[in-house]
Amino acid sequence: MENTGTDSTGTTRTLGRSGIDVSALGFGCWAIGGEWQSADGQPLGWGRVDDEECVRAVRRALDLGVTFFDTADVYGTGHSERLLGRALGRRRDDVVLATKWGNVFDAETRTLTGSDDSPAYARRALTASLRRLGTDHVDLYQLHLADADVERAAELREECEEFVREGMVRAYAWSTDDPGRAAVFAAGEHCAAVQHRANVLQDAPEMIALCEEAGLASVNRSPLAMGLLTGGHAGGRALEAGDIRSRPPAWLPGFGEGGGADPRWLARVEALRDVLTADGRTLAQGALGWLWARSPRTVPIPGFRSVAQAEENAGALAKGPLTAGQMAEVDRILGR
Ligand SMILES: NC(=O)c1ccc[n+]([C@@H]2O[C@H](COP(=O)([O-])OP(=O)(O)OC[C@H]3O[C@@H](n4cnc5c(N)ncnc54)[C@H](OP(=O)(O)O)[C@@H]3O)[C@@H](O)[C@H]2O)c1
Repeated sequence: MENTGTDSTGTTRTLGRSGIDVSALGFGCWAIGGEWQSADGQPLGWGRVDDEECVRAVRRALDLGVTFFDTADVYGTGHSERLLGRALGRRRDDVVLATKWGNVFDAETRTLTGSDDSPAYARRALTASLRRLGTDHVDLYQLHLADADVERAAELREECEEFVREGMVRAYAWSTDDPGRAAVFAAGEHCAAVQHRANVLQDAPEMIALCEEAGLASVNRSPLAMGLLTGGHAGGRALEAGDIRSRPPAWLPGFGEGGGADPRWLARVEALRDVLTADGRTLAQGALGWLWARSPRTVPIPGFRSVAQAEENAGALAKGPLTAGQMAEVDRILGR
């Protein structure tokens, strides 16, 4: 039988051609990095976080069957990797760890200072990530520069193959929304995935088609539309100054300048509420179920920063994908 990437219970998926099995749900560790910023003061974190609560949330996720964690060296300028390594402790070998490189940062001032697409920097970044995570290998190493030069990327792909030969990396991916760029990495033997944006409000048909054709996992960032698909912004919630959504950069739709969710986006979420919450799901669980039904290759990685969010999101695993009828109803409501 063809390996489509999903097991018969639906709670496990395979990272592309790597043979690495993960829970069908990963946990995204951007928010748990805490506050950091760009050189011109734009917030790049999700505001303040409680480290101990985040550690408890990671451990609760482990207990609930989550075996896949996505972070990046730059999240909290190293803090997310360090916290995740601490939370996993001796259970590191029970999980599949994904991290990213390409951004350059100053941990003293918690500031993003630039980017570096050279193979030499990739090696330095990997060594530093291994130290912060407290491990001797990364399971999925991802290029974080979404728009990197294609020729440079081909060199980085070969450097990743070298990391695999040296045992420092098991598989690699590009975090990009451009299918053309993803295809450049896909040509590498140990490329296992693309990380890209996908959620019920922002479908990614070309990228998902590429993943299905090339046999790659479609690792879905922002699966909850940065919180809009949880219902938590329905009442016009105020966002704190250190939260990236309070001053959204151009690539972050759904939130307006001035600190609130865009009412047009909230209206679409409300229109979907009944179908997503059928079968006793919460809104967030319905949004995750939509992604699993979208393709057998998808692995959503919702962010979190509390035990309650970890429990709700991990609880989606037991509910599984939406039905074909529910998927059709979503398309009808959104006019797709
Ligand atoms: N490669 C890249 O360039 C890139 C870019 C973006 C994201 N990512 C990865 O993708 C992961 C997830 O994407 P994302 O962080 O953009 O957004 P997301 O998963 O769409 O939304 C996460 C946010 O939604 C809220 N939330 C989560 N679960 C909830 C629940 N059960 N109930 C209520 N609210 C809940 C939390 O925000 P509040 O606590 O504020 O409510 C949380 O931080 C990131 O952590 C990161 O690992 C990668």
